Amino acid sequence: MSEIADMRVVNLWKRFGRLEVLKGLSLDFPKGAITVVLGPSGCGKSVLLKHLVGLLRPDRGEVWFGPARIDSMPERELGIVRRQIGFLFQQSALFDSLSVRENVAFPLREHGLEDEARIEERVMRVLSLVGMEESRDQMPSELSGGQRKRIALARAIVLEPRVVLYDEPTTGLDPIRAEIINELILKLADTMGITSIVVTHDLVSAFRVADSMVLLNEGQAVLTGTPEEFRQTTNPVVGQFLRGEVSQEELAKIRRHGDHLWAQRP
Ligand SMILES: Nc1ncnc2c1ncn2[C@@H]1O[C@H](COP(=O)(O)OP(=O)(O)OP(=O)(O)O)[C@@H](O)[C@H]1O
Ligand SMILES: [Mg+2]
Repeated sequence: MSEIADMRVVNLWKRFGRLEVLKGLSLDFPKGAITVVLGPSGCGKSVLLKHLVGLLRPDRGEVWFGPARIDSMPERELGIVRRQIGFLFQQSALFDSLSVRENVAFPLREHGLEDEARIEERVMRVLSLVGMEESRDQMPSELSGGQRKRIALARAIVLEPRVVLYDEPTTGLDPIRAEIINELILKLADTMGITSIVVTHDLVSAFRVADSMVLLNEGQAVLTGTPEEFRQTTNPVVGQFLRGEVSQEELAKIRRHGDHLWAQRP
């Protein structure tokens, strides 16, 4: 694992209306490594990923892709950056009216590849990488959740990206299908040297794939470290998260909200 950052965010701030989501978040994503981003639901993990591909712009702070600063990059230049980043969305987001083959071919056609033989060859290569070549003529509606994730992953890597962002790749899958996805993440990082950023709630998957981990809470990184450092930390917020406990603030919030609802009853 190299320590050169392939992507980085520096002092990132983002609010939606009155909701302050990212509060000065700084993180490095080392080249060729798998970084797992953990954190409670709603803490801004998907928002962070969207900043990394320029789908969201920060209120303040910087987003870097290698030597290029992308937070202030004009939309037309962002196309070149996005071509090098595969994004596996939280909902697999396949096109329901397109076959598996056409779903995977879509980014190639978008980027102007017209040679049908080359398209076929690249589609089949990534489908075989995710073990789904037999499904090439099926429609997304005929596939299970785990199969859909694998097709979405094939589509995310068909342009041979340098970086892949995975948003909850194993959520909602049974342990066997989740393990297939974990192995694919490891294989892609290994064989293609891809820099991987994996957002997940799934602690089994997190510890299985991570070279390094970060826990987000309240818009900042609570801890960055190796899986071993996470296992051994005495940081109470990390401990609570790993044990699946609800924090005292969270409980107080729920109680306040409950009282408020109670007060409103006729
Ligand atoms: N485009 C948007 N407009 C307004 N609010 C948004 C927008 N995108 C995200 N948010 C809010 O920002 C907060 C963080 O959202 P985000 O989707 O990043 O959470 P998350 O950490 O990915 O959660 P989960 O684990 O449930 O996927 C949430 O409160 C969400 O409602
Ligand atoms: Mg999310």
